[in-house]
Amino acid sequence: MSIPIVIDCDPGHDDVFAIWLAAANPAIDLRAITTVAGNGRIEHTTHNALVACTVAGIHDVPVAQGAAEPLYGELRPAEWIHGANALGGLTLPTPTVELDERDALTLIADVLNTSEEPVVLVPTGPLTNIAHLVQRHPELLPKIQRVIWMGGSTGRGNVTAEAEFNAWADPEAAAIVLGSGLDFTMVGLNISHQALITREVRARIAALGSPIAAFGVELLEFFCSTYAFEGMPDGPLHDPITVALLIDPAVATTIRTRVDVECDDPRTRGATRVDRSGSPQGPQNATVALDLDAKRFWSLIEDALQRLALRGPAARWD
Ligand code: BDR
Ligand code: CA
Repeated sequence: MSIPIVIDCDPGHDDVFAIWLAAANPAIDLRAITTVAGNGRIEHTTHNALVACTVAGIHDVPVAQGAAEPLYGELRPAEWIHGANALGGLTLPTPTVELDERDALTLIADVLNTSEEPVVLVPTGPLTNIAHLVQRHPELLPKIQRVIWMGGSTGRGNVTAEAEFNAWADPEAAAIVLGSGLDFTMVGLNISHQALITREVRARIAALGSPIAAFGVELLEFFCSTYAFEGMPDGPLHDPITVALLIDPAVATTIRTRVDVECDDPRTRGATRVDRSGSPQGPQNATVALDLDAKRFWSLIEDALQRLALRGPAARWD
């Protein structure tokens, strides 16, 4: 039986691959896509989610718009990585998939209320929507099987020395979700920097020869070009590791431990403190992904693109 999930995302080049993997893989039942401001302003991330669905022929999954701002402070989109509209570097088609009339929270609540089994939430952006859900709908928490989030890090950051973007963009939201008692998995930079988009990976995807694969290669090329400035010419494909881990737990090694997020100190705001001592101080509140089986991961991505090519538009749309 497939696993019911909701993807809560801020597309974002790598978020698009998380959507595609979830929509394509038969182990996953993608029930909804919700958007959050992060990589770009909410109008951009929402538009880009509709683009991701259009390109892949995903017409049966509702897409709803969520929070435009973090819980506190100002939104600071990741324009230096994702461009001004969060999907920089590409000519985007006009979406043929329409936005759901519900807002993100209503859609997630509807999915949770109507599902026969508990649903997995897969946030691949700041945790703002999920924190709102925890605060406004505590009665729905038992209907959430687990949360698998791309964010945080066991070590270095990518915005400041210690803070990863999704954690840095809304640390209070991350703290709320970590403290909620939900079964929480963190897929951080420490593992996503092992999902390197090497030349060989790009060549293999290009060789698939479909319009969606060509669009995918453009996404990857742009991502690699902006990461080149960060000293990583083979950029990391962060977000789809969450979905891959759900499909195949052997994709990553994990530990169960204590994670806290820094909200107070302005110098380290958004840093995730992962207790690696083996005897955590304070209750264990998270599973943390450590090491990636990159071969398994890329096989899942290629398989997804092949499956989607059969249902997506047969010709290029622009
Ligand atoms: C995370 O931040 C965004 O740039 C990516 O989409 C990913 O979710 C990596 O730090
Ligand atoms: Ca993201």
